[in-house]
Amino acid sequence: MRRIAILASGTGSNAECIMRHVQGVDGVEVCLVLSNRSQAPVLEKAQSLGIRAESFTKEQWASGHVLQLLCVAEVDVVVLAGFLLLVPPALIEAFPDRIINIHPALLPKHGGKGMYGMNVHRAVKEAGDTETGITVHLVNAEYDKGRVLFRASCPVLPTDTPDDIAHRVQQLEHRHFAEVVCGFALGL
Ligand code: GAR
Repeated sequence: MRRIAILASGTGSNAECIMRHVQGVDGVEVCLVLSNRSQAPVLEKAQSLGIRAESFTKEQWASGHVLQLLCVAEVDVVVLAGFLLLVPPALIEAFPDRIINIHPALLPKHGGKGMYGMNVHRAVKEAGDTETGITVHLVNAEYDKGRVLFRASCPVLPTDTPDDIAHRVQQLEHRHFAEVVCGFALGL
């Protein structure tokens, strides 16, 4: 059995897609959902699906508490699904090529520090890009620079607002991310 942990900071729509998808796949399970925000809706979503979910503080993140939780839970793959903290070197070293992130644009475009959520879609609009999309990649010590596992694109129309772009990108995320995560975990 491959064991997946999800780290998420907010709504958790992608986390929810992964949790639901994985429940129908043999050989893989989501065993733990962790958030740096105690009020993050993702925690309730996980609990309602019978999955252990906990929040952690800034101090716990810095002190290695999360790494310990992941190790004790015998996690094979860590998935960042809308997780906004920089992953510390100790965690990356403990899970080399085992941490997956999703970015809501076609990296290397519109990546890097501060580029998350609507900031990304606003940047796409301001740049006048005619397409955008999603990038699923492994995580290394720098933001948004690890090996790419999967990309999918969608058009950006001249009349699109950043909200329209966000909506189209989210549809791509929900269509593909869970399957990419499962395929990766099962391929280990
Ligand atoms: C997703 O669009 C994800 O790509 C993005 O946060 C959103 C989380 O939504 N991640 C980043 O911007 C990371 N740089 P969700 O909580 O509904 O899954």
